[in-house]
Order: sequence, then C-alpha cells, then structure tokens
Amino acid sequence: MKGMLFISFLDLVESQYGPDTLEVVLSEGTAENSGVYIAAGDYPHTELIALIVSLSKHTGIEVSHLIKSFGMYHFAEFIAAYPQLFTDLNSCFALLEKVDSFIHQEVRLLYPGATPPKFDYHRVNEDTIELLYQSPRCMGDVAEGLILGCAAYYGEKIGIKRERHGDKSGALERFTITR
Ligand code: HEM
Repeated sequence: MKGMLFISFLDLVESQYGPDTLEVVLSEGTAENSGVYIAAGDYPHTELIALIVSLSKHTGIEVSHLIKSFGMYHFAEFIAAYPQLFTDLNSCFALLEKVDSFIHQEVRLLYPGATPPKFDYHRVNEDTIELLYQSPRCMGDVAEGLILGCAAYYGEKIGIKRERHGDKSGALERFTITR
C-alpha cells in the first residue's frame, strides 16, 4: 500500500491525539521501518492495520470507528493534494461514479505500482447508487470513511448500507448509497 496513506494516518494521529500518542503508536505498530514512510513507497497494508489497532488500544476507540474517521480525514487530504482531479465533479454521486474509471486510473499514473480497489458503479435511481467494492485487502471501512468524507465535502447527507458477498471475507462488498 502506498506510503501516502500511512503519512496521512500519522498526521491524523498527531493532530487529533497528540505527539505522545503518535510516539507510542509508532513504537508498537511499525517494527520494520520505524515509522519512516515515503509517499510513493510501498508498504504492507497489514502495517497500517497494526498502527490503527495500536491507536485503538491506546484511545479505547473501536478499530472500525477509527478506520472510518481515517477515511474521512484522508478524503480531505486528497482534495487538498489533487484539486485538478475534482474540478468537474460537482456532487458526491458524480465523484463516486468516477472513482474507478477516472480517479483511481489517475492514481495509477501518479503512483506507478499502485493497486487501488475496484468499484463497479450502478445508478439505481435518481437518489440511489450501488458501488461494488472488490479488493483482496478487505478495506471496506476505509471505503465507507472516504464515501462519508466525500459527502461531507459536498455538504450532502447520505445513508450507506453495506452487504458482504462471495466468501463474506470483505473482499467483495456492495455499498448502497442513498441521498
Ligand atoms: C470516495 C472516493 C474514494 C473511495 C471510496 C476510495 C477507496 C479506496 C480504498 C478503500 C482504498 C484502500 C485499498 C483497498 O481497498 O484495496 C484506496 C486506495 C487508494 N486510493 Fe482511493 N478512494 C477514493 C478516492 C480516492 C481519491 C480522490 C484518490 C486520490 C486522488 C485516491 C487514491 C488512492 C490511493 C493512492 C490508494 C492506495 C493505492 C495503493 O496503495 O496501491 N482515492 N481507495
């Protein structure tokens, strides 16, 4: 997984929980590289999960809640870092329609070797869409946080329903999003 996600997570820990918590989380969660990440570098996604589990231990906040908060925080970071990708996308649904066909394709160009998840988009009706998330990394909570961050960015209220499919591991999940 690309280092930019780790950098953004560590920013969140420092700004919301303080430098002492950051130090503890880093010392516990990153045996391999002592917390030094390069945006375009590749690191095991399990290492990000280990950092989140450690933060959960020290704050008493549930892992899935922390992952979703991270997704929301990270969406704001994306927008700030790549404003050119968002100029023609004026609503949450417009952006979600383009995550797979445009945004994650651009990500592959910006970060060679990136392996973003796959999202099949289906418009159900005026106010409902379905996204079929597929990734062996099973990071549906991150996706949910990013989707919530996206809605917050556009000032929209949405509801999200999630259903696991296939072997139910989380590698294949349907998100039904209603506004
Ligand atoms: C609401 C919109 C988005 C959703 C739901 C989404 C979802 C995700 C998820 C869940 C992952 C974790 C990897 C996995 O599940 O296999 C991921 C990875 C990633 N996404 Fe997105 N994303 C969104 C928007 C964006 C945007 C706007 C950017 C950048 C401009 C971006 C760049 C990336 C990058 C760089 C990775 C890491 C790929 C890697 O480590 O190889 N995403 N995305």
